[in-house]
Amino acid sequence: MFSLEGRTALVTGTRTGIGRAIAVGLARAGADVVLHGHRDDLDEVEAEVRKAGREAWRWVYDLSDVTRLPGAAEELLGRHRVDILVNNAGIIRRAPAARHSYADWRAVLDVDLDAVFLLSQAAGRPMLRRGSGKIIMIASMLSFQGGVNVAGYTVAKHAVAGLTRSLACEWAARGVQVNAIAPGYIATDNTAPLRDDPGRESAIRDRIPAGRWGTPGDLAGAAVFLASPASDYVNGHVLAVDGGWLAR
Ligand SMILES: NC(=O)c1ccc[n+]([C@@H]2O[C@H](COP(=O)([O-])OP(=O)(O)OC[C@H]3O[C@@H](n4cnc5c(N)ncnc54)[C@H](OP(=O)(O)O)[C@@H]3O)[C@@H](O)[C@H]2O)c1
Repeated sequence: MFSLEGRTALVTGTRTGIGRAIAVGLARAGADVVLHGHRDDLDEVEAEVRKAGREAWRWVYDLSDVTRLPGAAEELLGRHRVDILVNNAGIIRRAPAARHSYADWRAVLDVDLDAVFLLSQAAGRPMLRRGSGKIIMIASMLSFQGGVNVAGYTVAKHAVAGLTRSLACEWAARGVQVNAIAPGYIATDNTAPLRDDPGRESAIRDRIPAGRWGTPGDLAGAAVFLASPASDYVNGHVLAVDGGWLAR
């Protein structure tokens, strides 16, 4: 029930970090993968998908260009039947709220929320016509909590949880499961500034019941679950993969 054989997944932001680990995890579970990247520098992840014995294609698109996104997504979806969409690509801009520029606010909301909505719409339409599909959002601990110095990101990730529930309510009866994974503190480029600050690094680690930062690979199992028939009656759920952070 966890096999993804015969399915094609589109994963955004696969050059590094969580997106890369999820793309490879889905491939190991049997999916062919459309690897999305900001730029055409996806050789390593493509080699890993092929090593798993699966087909890999590339889609290069800057998701901050939200105006052209619906057309670009239509064109892609005309070439590939996407059974699983993972909305992983995201950015973060850190600044105290009183000095958080509107440009940064807008940039974060464009990539982390608007692009997620537009891509889910584009991929969701053919899924609804077929009566099956899986959409997985990447939420955050900041879908539940306020955070510090990341007002735009927190707003975007709260909204991603809302979008997950909203789409799930409309699409569950039509065979499309929409859910989210909320990663805890994962060692990637996104969190490098936190790990480079010894005080913040140990304060975060000491609060994690599992006693360590997560790795991108820690997210792969949850993604396979939410992409597979094992989760066919799971709708609108935000699954924390956080070493117990929220339980504390
Ligand atoms: N790390 C954590 O602790 C953590 C916790 C909660 C949630 N998350 C979420 O997990 C997701 C992945 O983040 P990560 O931690 O793996 O960080 P990451 O290594 O920085 O990955 C972010 C990915 O998004 C892509 N991306 C950024 N801007 C883009 C744009 N305008 N167009 C297309 N692609 C773009 C990046 O591509 P390039 O590198 O080529 O620019 C990269 O592949 C994000 O949604 C993030 O908010 C992370």
